[in-house]
Amino acid sequence: MSETPVGIDGIELWSGKLRLDLPNTFAPVRDEDPAKYTKGLGVEHSSLPDVYEDIVTMGANAAKQLLDRKGLTPNDIGRIDVATESAFDNSKPVSTYIAGCLEEVYEEDFHHANKGERKFACVSGTQSIDDAYNWIRAGRHRGRAALVIATDTALYERGDPGEATQGAGAVAMIIDTDPDVVALSTEQGFGSADETDFLKPNQQFPSVDGKRSMQVYLARMREALQDYESVAGDTHPDDFAYVPFHTPFPGMVRKAALLGFRHISRDTDAESALASEIGNQPRESEFVSREAYEEAIREYMDELKETDTYREWYDDAIDPTVDVARMVGNWYTGSVHVARLSTLIAAADMNRDLAGEKLLLASYGSGAQAEIHAETVQSGWREAITPVNIDEQLEARYDLSFEEYERVHDVHNHEKDIEVEAFTTPEAEFVFTGWGRMSERRYEYIE
Ligand code: HMG
Repeated sequence: MSETPVGIDGIELWSGKLRLDLPNTFAPVRDEDPAKYTKGLGVEHSSLPDVYEDIVTMGANAAKQLLDRKGLTPNDIGRIDVATESAFDNSKPVSTYIAGCLEEVYEEDFHHANKGERKFACVSGTQSIDDAYNWIRAGRHRGRAALVIATDTALYERGDPGEATQGAGAVAMIIDTDPDVVALSTEQGFGSADETDFLKPNQQFPSVDGKRSMQVYLARMREALQDYESVAGDTHPDDFAYVPFHTPFPGMVRKAALLGFRHISRDTDAESALASEIGNQPRESEFVSREAYEEAIREYMDELKETDTYREWYDDAIDPTVDVARMVGNWYTGSVHVARLSTLIAAADMNRDLAGEKLLLASYGSGAQAEIHAETVQSGWREAITPVNIDEQLEARYDLSFEEYERVHDVHNHEKDIEVEAFTTPEAEFVFTGWGRMSERRYEYIE
């Protein structure tokens, strides 16, 4: 008898309410070619938080939208897991703040829900889904669902090359049995190593070795894919309708996808079909030195990316996964979940019948760890996804001038204490109102 599927039953997202136009506002001040953003990094805008927004308000707002849409109340929720790398407290978890906010607007409370906070850079959103999955599979959930929230304000030090990849937003997900959106595979692959590519040693903004972080991302992804195949069997490009990756910026996904395609097409009819055009993939045993082999691989990849076969696969399986990231930037823990949502929205817009098809999810967190698993799209996916009002949210963002952006960055800088007027007016949402007597952050719901 097959097991009841467990997976994502609903998804909502909350974008920071400001936006920075990268090619038109940011690039000119940096004296850079706008094409570096639109073509190189593949980004148009960053979402940024207004002065009354933070990881708690964005997370609570995404969660409330989701609970309301699904008709759930606190009694239906047995755990709240928050993934973030923007936490402001080393003891009290963000999930308690979010539960506190939600308890202001529901009659029931979350006193019997297990709450926590997950940390492992961007991969902790996926790890929180894992925790929920394991809790349900272990039979400890008492028929209740888990609320998983990935929320971050991904800001870099002013002048850091990473400033071009900032973003802010939250993704809320319900994990449950018989899910409407996707069922998770039991098989998982991990690629994990002690790395110092990106870290925040008790500091707000990250120390980043940008170029190295890209190499580490690719190396750990490759390890995770090999590990996944060791339990799930060999993969083939036709196995997956879409491959959503962790997306620090779409240009990173471009690199990862090319390596991924080479790997999953090796020793398959897909490699043979390309052989008359670009030859077979180089095998290390055919070369006298590692250098010669690596050179041959580079040449093969340069040719592979120009083939119609690869371009069509990329346009179908990868490009729709970065549609939203292009408009919002990196949301750290939420990023791969934004990529999944982006994929499903694109499939719904194309009227594609996706039920029963598979996604291959590729998550990554600096420090560093990649995780890969498959997801099977469920029959209720379209009805679950179409109400997500992402276009409306993105359209409503306030477009910052560069000088306004500088003030917004300062107001969210924990080292600075400045007053800045809000750029937007809150409506039917949680807002940050200031600090209490024990330096706790305080919130209220604005009708
Ligand atoms: P940079 O030095 O400003 O940019 O830093 P660049 O000079 O490398 O240019 C970027 C791309 O634009 C290049 O493309 C250029 O060629 C191209 P590539 O050659 O690599 O394909 N370009 C142009 N294209 C067309 N026309 C032009 C033009 N000019 C340049 N005129 C960097 C880029 C990513 C290093 C920087 O933004 C950074 O440090 N970002 C933060 C770190 C990061 O995002 N790393 C990604 C992997 S690690 C990760 O994903 C984890 C993370 O999410 C954190 C976590 O897990 O918690 C970050």
